[in-house]
Amino acid sequence: MKQLFKTFPLLFLLLILTQCRKQPAKATGLVTEKAMVVSARKEASAVGSAILKKGGNAFDAMVGTELALAVAYPFAGNLGGGGFMVYRKNNGDIGAIDYREKAPLSAHKDMYLDSLGNVIPGKSTLGATAVGVPGTIAGIFEVHDKFGSLAISDIMEPVIELVEQGVVVTEKQAKRLEHYRKQIIEVNGDNTLFFNSCVQGDTLKYPALVNTLKRISKNGRDEFYIGETAKKLAAFVQENGGYVTEEDLARYEAKWRQPIIFEYKGLKIISMSPPSSGGVTMNQIFKMIEPYDISEFGHNSAETIQLFTEASRRAYADRNYFLGDPDFVDIPLDVLLSQKYLTERMNDFTLDNATLSSEIKRGNMQISESSETTHYSIVDQEGNAVSVTTTLNGAYGSKLYCDELGFFLNNEMDDFSAKPGVPNMFGLIGADANSIAPEKRMLSSMTPTIVEKDNKLYMVVGSPGGSTIITAVAQTILNTYEFNLSMQDAVNAPRFHHQWLPDFVIFEPEGFSSIVKDELKNKGYIINEDRTPILGKVDAIRILPDGRLEGGADKRGDDTAVGF
Ligand code: GLY
Repeated sequence: MKQLFKTFPLLFLLLILTQCRKQPAKATGLVTEKAMVVSARKEASAVGSAILKKGGNAFDAMVGTELALAVAYPFAGNLGGGGFMVYRKNNGDIGAIDYREKAPLSAHKDMYLDSLGNVIPGKSTLGATAVGVPGTIAGIFEVHDKFGSLAISDIMEPVIELVEQGVVVTEKQAKRLEHYRKQIIEVNGDNTLFFNSCVQGDTLKYPALVNTLKRISKNGRDEFYIGETAKKLAAFVQENGGYVTEEDLARYEAKWRQPIIFEYKGLKIISMSPPSSGGVTMNQIFKMIEPYDISEFGHNSAETIQLFTEASRRAYADRNYFLGDPDFVDIPLDVLLSQKYLTERMNDFTLDNATLSSEIKRGNMQISESSETTHYSIVDQEGNAVSVTTTLNGAYGSKLYCDELGFFLNNEMDDFSAKPGVPNMFGLIGADANSIAPEKRMLSSMTPTIVEKDNKLYMVVGSPGGSTIITAVAQTILNTYEFNLSMQDAVNAPRFHHQWLPDFVIFEPEGFSSIVKDELKNKGYIINEDRTPILGKVDAIRILPDGRLEGGADKRGDDTAVGF
């Protein structure tokens, strides 16, 4: 061997360099020994972590964190919305639950169209007509029934304490509330709890929510779907002109789903299946970039941006055309995810110039970006992991706030395609696969994801951000695995996004040099220079080689990792 290195010093150097690359990056985020919760608010992460500390598992902590976000982060945390969870137990078992909202029984394909067939502005976005049947309480109770270890009352105790003591308003929260206050008043009138402005440092209290949570703690899931809360909720939505009835609530069920699972260069990636588009679209992107040595291209280099953009362009072109609620539409997943199809998709890819989106068929979608929705990641002291993304859809959902019950209602009906070819509030243009039908679930982009490496837990990751969720999650995984960034650095790194139509690349502010942008422009890429929005808000956990955990709490928000 020695002789070999003497004879081939270059080989020796290469070997050392390869070994260096294999050394995972040093942690720069919070590191804990055993367990961690990363969410959009410190209070919610602390509730989840406290539940773990008192002996609860990741599933117990999920219930607590989800409810605590409804208290501390009503912008997207919710009782009146829905979500998806992907899990991996410490014995390697994996699965997913869909507690997405669904259309009320009275819903129909043209419910948001006027007599001339035009979309009625605001009807699917603002107020009671936009509300889908909420799934959150059904989801968390279903998870608790199957995997929980603590009593619901023990889990909810710190949540009820939090809502009783109130939540201190952060600077970002004050700005958000001020931004949406006018609309909230427009929908709810002057007597709404949110009538008065609040500033950083104020304490927000939700007395009605205390009572609702106490009733749910005592009576369980049924309280929300057939109990006093159900009756009040249905009456409230209908008084305001909406469609959700007591029967809709009574019929709601969360559904266990088989997650989307695929391999990428030695990783096993487990993500959400339809009715979310997240797992399918991310699977397509990863498989299209897999044949290339993207790490050689360099982090956020022109070549990396090109390769990722071209894969995204092709994957997003399929997204809206084929995907919808799998209980209502046949999705050709065997074709869409086959290596043959994805290889053919990239046949015309070249690093020399951009492909035109007009040359890529299928689907139809316009720009969509929003940081509404919220994600949290949990790993417990036993090594169980949950990845959860939950939403009201828009900021504060439909803006309809039930004062008597203490929470906002979603405007998830807008995630359906109200009329093929007409964009929804995020600019998404849908096809028939995502048309409205009674009891159907609307298509989502939420991408709660868990990654395994060498058959062991490697990462828990997810993000809000509408259709930009998928590229934010994929780039975070690549940042860590291909570009060897720590979890926190991978989350903080500037992101870019392309989704087929409109045909331009969006970059986050700062972090992309004009040299890189000019190189892309010279190759025919259209860069949206006017808009440099924040893309996603990722909360993630990485398992370090010694078994400790590193949090990645997105600096773009108030997101915080808490653990022990
Ligand atoms: N409402 C956002 C999503 O589900 O993707």
